[in-house]
Amino acid sequence: MSGKVENIKPIEFEIVRTNDGADTIFSKKFGEHYHSTAGSLGESIYVYQKQALEYYLQLFPDKKQINIFEVGFGVGLNAFVTLIYALDKDLQINFYSIEKFPLQPADLYNFSLGDYQKYQPFFLQIHKTPWNQTVKITSTFSLTKIFADWTQYNLDQFLENQMIDIVYYDAFSYDTQPEMWTVEMFKKLFEKMSPGGVLTTYAAKGKIKQNLTRAGFFIERLKGAWSKRHMLRALKPKKGQNVVRFISISNLKFDNIPINPTTLDLAMKIYNKQIDPYELPPIKVMQLPTGQYLIRDGRHRAAAFKLNGLDRIKAYIFVPKTKQDDHSK
Ligand SMILES: C[S@@+](CC[C@H](N)C(=O)[O-])C[C@H]1O[C@@H](n2cnc3c(N)ncnc32)[C@H](O)[C@@H]1O
Repeated sequence: MSGKVENIKPIEFEIVRTNDGADTIFSKKFGEHYHSTAGSLGESIYVYQKQALEYYLQLFPDKKQINIFEVGFGVGLNAFVTLIYALDKDLQINFYSIEKFPLQPADLYNFSLGDYQKYQPFFLQIHKTPWNQTVKITSTFSLTKIFADWTQYNLDQFLENQMIDIVYYDAFSYDTQPEMWTVEMFKKLFEKMSPGGVLTTYAAKGKIKQNLTRAGFFIERLKGAWSKRHMLRALKPKKGQNVVRFISISNLKFDNIPINPTTLDLAMKIYNKQIDPYELPPIKVMQLPTGQYLIRDGRHRAAAFKLNGLDRIKAYIFVPKTKQDDHSK
């Protein structure tokens, strides 16, 4: 993609200082801030870098080239945080971000970056990068800013044979822009994502969860940034595999296995074949008629059978599909 973008209209906004010392934008058109006023930089790092990118790298530690797609480029804070994260890593990040109402670089010279102020030249470079062109900003980070309306955007044409590994879904809220959170929007991403791909968003509304699930994702509700109660992480299962819901199993004793069972470590270890779930004392693994596995111990037996409360589910484990699943298609 190339070409000058002539029809960028100025938008009405204010720059607002947030509690972690970094700024955000308040959009007068939409009546919303671009980030949490409790801390814009901290929110970007937590919701997108940590819960999407770092999580994905735990799942795929050998992956060196990662395609990230962002919905809502905004002030480019997520792109900036990701560029800084990749600076000294053995990684190549291709970052694509779509925006319908671009800001002008000249408006952002005094935008505070809080603890990341020393990296301001990269921030300004991100903004000077022309729209609809791919520019390698550092040796580990290339950026493609797409000037387009996400609701009208055809992803197939744009990425051609490439797959998206990670999605940063950073649209304005469901109440302000419900058209950004439909099943259709999530489906076009789902189809373009690589198996095992991860999407995160700061939002956690029930309707969003429902639409993500309908698009094919498996959803995990996580603690939100700062004092926000929840955020969402959605996973695209691997082809030909099921997703097993893995219940919260605190207070279990794992003989000789150095793990913290309240985190995702156990799931990761099983996923990476470092441990065999069948040999985990004293947990019992059972296979359900559906082909899914339940991992449980005596104490959590009841919980294991009441999986409708998503709070209890801490991770998803990918396992091969059984023949029975294939027949039931
Ligand atoms: C929450 S802000 C994104 C913040 C941004 N990710 C950042 O790190 O600074 C939401 C963004 O979505 C953009 N937006 C709104 N409607 C859109 C649409 N239909 N297509 C693409 N972007 C849109 C807004 O202009 C705004 O920049």
